[in-house]
Amino acid sequence: MLIAVDGPLASGKGTIARALAVHFNLPHMDTGTLYRAVAVEMLEAGEDPRDAGRAAERARALDPAAINERKIRSAGAGMAASVVSAHPEVREALLRLQQEFAAQPGGAVLDGRDIGTVIAPHADLKLFVTADEESRAWRRHAELTHRGESISYDQVLVQLRARDSRDAARSSAPMAKAADAVELDTSDMSIDEAVRAAIHIAQHAANR
Ligand code: DC
Repeated sequence: MLIAVDGPLASGKGTIARALAVHFNLPHMDTGTLYRAVAVEMLEAGEDPRDAGRAAERARALDPAAINERKIRSAGAGMAASVVSAHPEVREALLRLQQEFAAQPGGAVLDGRDIGTVIAPHADLKLFVTADEESRAWRRHAELTHRGESISYDQVLVQLRARDSRDAARSSAPMAKAADAVELDTSDMSIDEAVRAAIHIAQHAANR
């Protein structure tokens, strides 16, 4: 079974994708880590994430096995990843890696912004996970402060809006709900409830 999970940041898509992978015993790829890793490399080298040519070079040379999970999770890395991911050359450079992962014979779970629309339009199940802006901002704020970052709720909300609009407005593979995706609004759900709802939908899809 191939499962595509898309949605805006802090919607719960990552947690849901990981839980589906465990439940159905499938390999999982968080595709946002690829864009984040390219962004972090650029920031560390003192490069401008708006430099499409440089970003694409880094994307082409990216070794997914060498991604430092800790470094890529900061708010700054997320913002820069959103800038980097708007370059069509960068998306092109990371396409094959993601499509090969999706083509594994036993199936896979991938989460991101364009999995159901571009990377795996043939997926057996497409989930589009959403939540209202305030719920997402509170979640992301809790996550970042828990990790020791000092950032206010208002700053998180401003960044979230900026990333949402950039991710949805870019011309190359914008964040979008595929026509045949099932939408799951997690605004009023706990993590457990959201995961259970997603598994329920996936089981239904598997039995089709
Ligand atoms: O899901 P995330 O917050 O880790 O993603 C970081 C950025 O990467 C996000 O702002 C947009 C981009 N991204 C993308 O364009 N396409 C994907 N499939 C995944 C992430």
